[in-house]
Amino acid sequence: MAVRLPCGHEVMDERQTHYCAYLALDALIALQPADGELRHADERLFLTTHQAFELWFRQIIFELHRTTAALDAENVALATSLTQRITRIVGLFAPMLHTLETMTPADFFAFRAALAPASGSESQQFREIELLAGLRDPAYQRYLQTPLATSADGNPVDQWTERVRAAWEARSLAEALSDLLARRGVTAADLYVIAPAPNPHGDLLLLAEALMDFDEAFATWRYAHARMAERAIGHDASGTGHTTGVRYLNHAANRPYFFPMLWQARNALG
Ligand code: HEM
Repeated sequence: MAVRLPCGHEVMDERQTHYCAYLALDALIALQPADGELRHADERLFLTTHQAFELWFRQIIFELHRTTAALDAENVALATSLTQRITRIVGLFAPMLHTLETMTPADFFAFRAALAPASGSESQQFREIELLAGLRDPAYQRYLQTPLATSADGNPVDQWTERVRAAWEARSLAEALSDLLARRGVTAADLYVIAPAPNPHGDLLLLAEALMDFDEAFATWRYAHARMAERAIGHDASGTGHTTGVRYLNHAANRPYFFPMLWQARNALG
């Protein structure tokens, strides 16, 4: 006898895998406000874009852990392939931001004030990606340890949360790379010396270039985000998270790379 699922579909066996149940679609859609609760028609696009980013952030964090573990297990091929996947995901981010550019500044300003003091700066998953990948700049640590803003109740918004601190202390992909090269007895520059002799480090060269692609794609995302924000709110407006807005983002767009040793290796080759 047919069974009616919560999503409204009828199936012969309620235990069978069903599209809506597998994806928890009812719960997923319920995470957004109803049409009548939106402050502006464009707010759904804004919410959907942010939520989609956070889902992809979660996926990247998952893959970063796997990539680090693969390097620690000497599985360079798996680490290379997972890094390529991460880069493909990061490659989605600029087009995702471009969807927000279909919103006029006036439409965004119609609901922007209601967002303060919330800001993308509070995305813990974004910080986890940076730290699990390898960002370990002391100046950046000082920034993270400085409360972000004063919320409506007068309390500072702490960026140095338990999760962010744990990510700072966790083993990073950059560390796993560095240890792997040490175990193999090679420097990053050695990987790029390929002619005229056959390259004995071909697997590491492909890994290093995959990591460079990830690093470059992430830096490109930072730049694309700053330009999208400038288009939406202008150069001079403060951010909802109480930063200097686009001025801050231009500074953040130049954060150190995740794998500086690979970028520096270029200097040794000229
Ligand atoms: C109209 C859309 C957007 C505008 C105008 C905008 C603007 C800004 C501004 C001005 C900041 C600086 C912090 C502050 O608020 O004071 C910021 C930070 C940030 N935003 Fe956005 N943003 C937008 C969309 C997004 C989206 C879709 C994401 C995806 C998750 C995002 C992620 C972030 C992150 C991660 C930061 C921290 C950057 C860092 O510290 O390096 N933003 N944003």
